[in-house]
Amino acid sequence: MTTGDVGTSAREIPFSDADFRAIADLAQTEFGLNLAESKKPLVYSRLSKRLKARQVGSFQSYLTLLNQKEENAERLELISALTTNVTSFFREKHHFDMLRDEAIPRMIQNVKAGQRVRIWSAGCSSGQEPYSIAMTLLEKIPDAARHNVKILATDIDPKIVERARNGQYPLEEATGIPDTMRKAQVVPVADQDFRIGEEPRKLITFAELNLMDAWPFKGPFDAIFCRNVAIYFNQETQQRLWERFREMLVPDGFLFIGHSERVTGPATHSLSGVGITSYRNSGPGGRPTA
Ligand SMILES: C[S@@+](CC[C@H](N)C(=O)[O-])C[C@H]1O[C@@H](n2cnc3c(N)ncnc32)[C@H](O)[C@@H]1O
Repeated sequence: MTTGDVGTSAREIPFSDADFRAIADLAQTEFGLNLAESKKPLVYSRLSKRLKARQVGSFQSYLTLLNQKEENAERLELISALTTNVTSFFREKHHFDMLRDEAIPRMIQNVKAGQRVRIWSAGCSSGQEPYSIAMTLLEKIPDAARHNVKILATDIDPKIVERARNGQYPLEEATGIPDTMRKAQVVPVADQDFRIGEEPRKLITFAELNLMDAWPFKGPFDAIFCRNVAIYFNQETQQRLWERFREMLVPDGFLFIGHSERVTGPATHSLSGVGITSYRNSGPGGRPTA
């Protein structure tokens, strides 16, 4: 072991620098995650729980297990352990203001012309983001569900996608939802919880998707929200992702990213900043609206 080793007390599982690198390499190739050396104690504290759950005595054995084909579920446990699902309703509210003021007016025209409207919440966590999008849409297009208006909400973590689909949250989270929307779009259940109402639900399709994989749809999207997800990826992976999003946007479509993220690389030729962490597809490219 080296001085960087953790987990050295008698009751703990040893975690060498080589173990950390092997986990970091796997996280990079499979999920695009960038685990800096400084994350080593965090990785240890989160993964040692998985080793105990699987009754595995060393990180080498855990890696061997992860590499087995039939251990896909454990690889997903790994990503759950390594990423954070922190989210909230109307997080970074300025994006929803821009959606309402800049993007929805054109969506209304599309709806009136019988055309499709598509929005993607990529890395949707437990659903607060796509439900906030749906409530914003419904405020301006109350009959959206009767038109060709759809929100795709995806995340790599199957458990979190299930929670999102369930759409039930503790009452204290409802304070993040503007009053008018809360009154119209959520339903209290029991004493402690509320559920998202039927109208927002009808607009959303939830699915599991690793953003590193091929995307099984063609778009194009009028707006893409991918916020606080790419922060885990290295710069090369981020730049490829921005470019792939650009290709999925309609001309003039919007990309919203997280507060500490920035679009860099080739996509900057076509994605123009139009507000805080908000971009518009201004260049050629992007697919024409179907
Ligand atoms: C911090 S949450 C962000 C939730 C929401 N977008 C927001 O800003 O409030 C990050 C989410 O990204 C997901 N994620 C991480 N890596 C991913 C990948 N390679 N593909 C898809 N989702 C990923 C995680 O599972 C997690 O739910």
